[in-house]
Amino acid sequence: MNTIFERDLEAKGFIDLPIDPSIDLVEEIKKLKKEKNAVILAHYYQEAEIQDLADYIGDSLGLSQQAAKTDADVIVFAGVHFMAETAKILSPTKKVLLPDLKAGCSLSDSCPAHLFAKFKAQYPDHLVITYVNCTAELKALSDIVCTSSNAVQIVESLPAEQKIIFGPDRNLGDYVKKKTGRDLVLWNGACMVHEIFSREKIDKLKADNPGAKFIAHPECEEHILVDADYIGSTSGMLKFTIEDSCETFIVATESGILHQMQKASPSKKFIPAPPNNSCACNDCPHMRLNTLEKLYNCLKYDLPEITLPEDVIARAQKPIERMLDISAKLGL
Ligand code: 13P
Ligand code: SF4
Repeated sequence: MNTIFERDLEAKGFIDLPIDPSIDLVEEIKKLKKEKNAVILAHYYQEAEIQDLADYIGDSLGLSQQAAKTDADVIVFAGVHFMAETAKILSPTKKVLLPDLKAGCSLSDSCPAHLFAKFKAQYPDHLVITYVNCTAELKALSDIVCTSSNAVQIVESLPAEQKIIFGPDRNLGDYVKKKTGRDLVLWNGACMVHEIFSREKIDKLKADNPGAKFIAHPECEEHILVDADYIGSTSGMLKFTIEDSCETFIVATESGILHQMQKASPSKKFIPAPPNNSCACNDCPHMRLNTLEKLYNCLKYDLPEITLPEDVIARAQKPIERMLDISAKLGL
């Protein structure tokens, strides 16, 4: 590999070569995409410009389903590291690129595989369900993977007497426990973005916007979810705002999703739920590391590329495919 690239990737996580300021980045990205038979998969938490360029925008389940079935040669993942890893696991022969290798995830970081292996060893008769927001190594230690849009159904698909460990998100785990009545053993992890919302400020917003509906992602804490009118994954929340007749929604998840909500329902009002401080903490700092410039360089130089050891791919594939099979059977 070229040493300039090696230096950039190690120090910065992305290719930081100068881009001619006179080029139309959006048009150039579209050209490169065609030339290389590449597909851009973007999560709803990406900035609006990237969402608008993507071939597919979706939640974690939708993105996994797309990654499994695409016939493109290259998958450019506009999302975070664990998502690009999932795409690589599902399409190991394809080149999977991530514009910034440092686009990680606080929830994934809260569950290192070596510690989880010790935790799991304490419960030898338990089945392991892991939320997709975790590393490939963690998935390799799991029996079934799930996302926020199928976690409840996946737990419900198992016999009632089946003992289950659920990780790494304690909030999603608590939500699934409540919905299914199952007694799950939870790993104590969480997402920094979804734990930042302020109960007091949400209550004030509700009082200031009578009739507004409050919708939340299940990665939020129980005291936030308690009075939500709808709880679901990003695509579930988007669908709810399209189908519900209410005109104003207070939205407790990463603010990137508001772009699609506003596009789908231009006359409705969407208010991001406020954090418990004065910074823009409901923008995920990991997701937002991806930029149009990094996306352009990534497509141009075919870097940074996601690579994984073959044995990890082989072991992580089974639990993800099990999730996709159950979801397909349930029509999710
Ligand atoms: P979903 O889009 O699957 O709801 O996931 C939310 C999330 O936090 C992704 O990092
Ligand atoms: Fe991870 Fe939370 Fe960012 Fe999603 S929003 S990528 S769970 S840190």
